[in-house]
Amino acid sequence: MEKNLVYRGKSKDVFKITSGAHKGKYRFVFTDRATGYIENGKPVFDPGYDIVVGEIPGKGAIACRFATHFFKLLKAKGVPTHYIETISDNEMIVEPAVPLGMPVAKPIFPGAEPLANLEFTWRNNATGSFWRRYPFVRPCKNLHKVVEAWTKGDSDILITFEALQEAGALTKKEIADSVKLVKKIADIVSKEFKSKKLHVIDGKFELGRLKYGRGKIVLIDEVSPDVLRVCRGFKPDKSGNCTQFTKCAVTSYLEGKRTIKNKNQVRAADFIDIFL
Ligand SMILES: Nc1ncnc2c1ncn2[C@@H]1O[C@H](COP(=O)(O)OP(=O)(O)OP(=O)(O)O)[C@@H](O)[C@H]1O
Ligand SMILES: [Mg+2]
Repeated sequence: MEKNLVYRGKSKDVFKITSGAHKGKYRFVFTDRATGYIENGKPVFDPGYDIVVGEIPGKGAIACRFATHFFKLLKAKGVPTHYIETISDNEMIVEPAVPLGMPVAKPIFPGAEPLANLEFTWRNNATGSFWRRYPFVRPCKNLHKVVEAWTKGDSDILITFEALQEAGALTKKEIADSVKLVKKIADIVSKEFKSKKLHVIDGKFELGRLKYGRGKIVLIDEVSPDVLRVCRGFKPDKSGNCTQFTKCAVTSYLEGKRTIKNKNQVRAADFIDIFL
């Protein structure tokens, strides 16, 4: 294992800083590793999938610039996050946190907190798994950023807020505050895209308790093309429902090529020109 590596995720490597001004903080390295699936022996990149199938040169740098932009924007709006500063094209310093999670009998890997980490999804419109679970909801209906908690990792399990409370993962107040925080961030991110004539369909965030901040719950991890679905050509009615079912694809990192055939697809690389 590389020195001071705390965790190797699917897309990022997390290192503990052991000296200097940022001693004790974490260094995120955004790598070029990309998830997807294999078709006819070849990788098809798609951030909606959970298996690393290869690398896309430049992906880490795009994700890091993107996350930097949004963390700075959130800071300016007074939203608490783990972000400290960006130190290179693909590295940033963050506050160490314990990701919010459901308690489990055994730690996921040696040295890990005995938690199944949680992901908070939020949705502007009913598509994907939400619509599959609730087929009576009109496709593309405005969902007013409905927030749900899921375990992340090998299996995505929907956890009700009441179950989170009963399992001792979060108090009732922490749940209410977390939902409020996710909605606020979702609103800021959605408005930022709207100002560039783009529409966010849905997204997922991670929250954590700061290790050195009396357990304060803040946004951790990343705000990147990996965690948002963005589309062009969104035409809502007065209530925010799509007027027709616009098939907006997940964002892709690929230059020129499209992982999913959809002319409305927004490429992650486009974001660089749009925001930065
Ligand atoms: N401030 C923080 N302190 C501690 N851990 C963090 C912090 N921010 C993010 N993390 C964790 O670091 C990891 C980042 O790596 P990456 O995003 O590549 O993992 P992932 O593939 O999404 O997740 P996993 O491998 O855990 O399913 C995630 O597990 C995330 O929960
Ligand atoms: Mg991740």
